[in-house]
Amino acid sequence: TALIDAPGPLSGRHAVVTSGPTHEPIDPVRYIANRSSGKQGHAIAAALAALGCQVTLVTGPTRLTDPAGVDTIHIESAREMLAAVEAALPADIAVCAAAVADWRPAIEAGQKLKKQPGGALPPDIRLIENPDILRTISAPGPSRPALVVGFAAETEQVLDHARAKRARKGCDWIVANDVSTGTGTFGGDDNAVHLIDADGTDSWPAMTKQAVADRLARRIADHFAAPTTKDSA
Ligand code: CTP
Ligand code: CA
Repeated sequence: TALIDAPGPLSGRHAVVTSGPTHEPIDPVRYIANRSSGKQGHAIAAALAALGCQVTLVTGPTRLTDPAGVDTIHIESAREMLAAVEAALPADIAVCAAAVADWRPAIEAGQKLKKQPGGALPPDIRLIENPDILRTISAPGPSRPALVVGFAAETEQVLDHARAKRARKGCDWIVANDVSTGTGTFGGDDNAVHLIDADGTDSWPAMTKQAVADRLARRIADHFAAPTTKDSA
């Protein structure tokens, strides 16, 4: 895909966006995954590009086509996603919309696991924690993007959990959404989110994921247009 520097409020900026699920291998034919569709992350990548931003989209396996005008990198596992994100830096903006698997099988079998004869128990799959991409790139350092935006998928106490998550991860903004019921569930076209920054919480009405993406991209452009903002405090 050609990276044409389209004119717009984010011209000259580079954004890295993560999207989709990750697949964590069990053996050569099996993996652990989740229900993320990638719709929100892909829409954000496209919305940033539409404002003139150079966008690198690092995506897990989805059914979506690569957004036009976006440099799209396909990965499968969380560790591959982290490596691709780090290779894409430096960036002014990072938006972590991927539903990264929190855990992966501790051991990836080199051969397909086989049923044992004689009614032996099924294998125990021991899990270990994956690297946290959002927390890694939010850490202070020379390659930290000026604006790091995370998502918080919650099923209860959405705002409290999301505010705690913002502090724990060290990111600047958190987009919180309730994935328990109705609007915002994985796979749907609509989303109802709260944008949390250092100054407070902005609750947006339910809208399409495309509209959430456009509004977030616009808000990011406004942030870079107003250097006096305290958003990154
Ligand atoms: N995230 C990430 N790498 C991980 C886990 C999460 O980059 N290994 C990012 C997601 O892309 C999202 C944010 O962290 O932007 C929050 O993800 P979420 O699953 O809501 O939070 P967790 O910290 O994993 O906590 P939990 O799932 O226990 O609520
Ligand atoms: Ca998680």
